[in-house]
Amino acid sequence: MDKIIINGGKKLKGEVVISGAKNSALPILFATLLTDEPTEITNVPLLADTETTITFLNFIGKKTVRSGNIVRTCLSDKYKHIAPYDLVRRMRASVLIMGPLLAKLKQVEVSLPGGCTIGARPIDIHLDAFKMMGAKICIEKGYLKIFVEKELQGAMINFRFPSVGATENVLLSAVLAKGTSTILNAACEPEIEDLAKVLNKMGAKVSGAGTKKIVIEGVDKLHGFAHEVIPDRIEAATYMIAAAITRGEITLKKVNPQHLKSVNDKLKRSGLYIKEVKDTILVKWVKNLKPQNIKTEIYPKFPTDVQAQWMVLMSLLNGKTKIEENVFENRFMHVAELRRFGANIRINGRVAKIKGVSRFSGAPVMVSDIRAGAALVLAGLAAEGKTTISRVYHLDRGYEMLEKKLKNLGADIKRIKT
Ligand code: EPZ
Repeated sequence: MDKIIINGGKKLKGEVVISGAKNSALPILFATLLTDEPTEITNVPLLADTETTITFLNFIGKKTVRSGNIVRTCLSDKYKHIAPYDLVRRMRASVLIMGPLLAKLKQVEVSLPGGCTIGARPIDIHLDAFKMMGAKICIEKGYLKIFVEKELQGAMINFRFPSVGATENVLLSAVLAKGTSTILNAACEPEIEDLAKVLNKMGAKVSGAGTKKIVIEGVDKLHGFAHEVIPDRIEAATYMIAAAITRGEITLKKVNPQHLKSVNDKLKRSGLYIKEVKDTILVKWVKNLKPQNIKTEIYPKFPTDVQAQWMVLMSLLNGKTKIEENVFENRFMHVAELRRFGANIRINGRVAKIKGVSRFSGAPVMVSDIRAGAALVLAGLAAEGKTTISRVYHLDRGYEMLEKKLKNLGADIKRIKT
């Protein structure tokens, strides 16, 4: 198992190119199942999760090949309709196999995804939507069996919560359903808009993506496509916070500032200098930052995927900060590890109360999930002395070339094989 070693205290300076968005690339890769024609997807980040998805697509029967950051799919063999446990357990987003296979094969058997460290992560919203479109569902030996007698029917679907994955699964199935579907209380993330753009390039009729009401008119057939994945707003936010926490100056390239408004606003209010010019953001520490409370909410409010990183920054500011995690029920796994650096954080249910400390000292720590891992890296960059981070495979799921990018910015960071 690899470990990452950081000797902290270095100011980060220089340029970093932001990779394609993991959470956009994954649903777009699953969308290739909806067509028998060739597709080409560019700006696909090279991550464990994209590799898992490519393995998954090949297992199902969709010939998928990656070369660098380009993924191509071509004519496929007959698809299998069963998604095995050993693939599904690796990645929560595997549930996105359901929509396309229901649309193409009228049936899918998928191992129940199981929870992960940030929560139980049920899929009831996905399944209720499929039922409204005429699907029947039963559970046998840990597998979900979903099938439709004739074909999926368009439906009026009102989400109890604007689930990102459920919005994507409905999009990935309703595009080939009979009739029109409407999603009310849909997720509005940029990744949803990117997926809808791809589906419309394929000949689908999706309108309203990016708003809470999405209308999908079912069509008979979908074509191949070429598409460049949008930049990863969560990776970008992580590097902006890296500049702040090391009192450095970083220029982010190939980023979309529009997708980062809630984080930029908070950082600016805290006192960070931020200048946005087209697809570039200059971030510069110019004075001591002031604590800023946050509440994580659905897009476009403050993203839950930046909560852990924000907590680290606030832990080293003079003053008190309150963080409320409203999207996942158990997303404070990083707190225990941050206390090992010397952070002063108290948890009460969904609320974390942080009392800033003057310094962190490096420590051996362990990663629990992708974004908690990012937070531990940030803490190590700011800490005095050596930090050893284990279970880094979580980081490899969500951050492309992490050490290389940080080393180019002046960090003293290396990966060791143990
Ligand atoms: C996506 O997960 C992202 N993953 C997550 O990013 C992100 O944190 C999350 O959206 C919220 O923005 C991908 O896109 C691959 P949800 P998803 O369905 O779709 C509950 C990262 O680090 N819920 O919007 O699983 C759920 O338990 C990852 O890149 C139900 O109760 O998120 C959670 O509390 C982490 N029933 C909340 O809704 C359901 O059927 C949000 O989940 C579905 C969800």
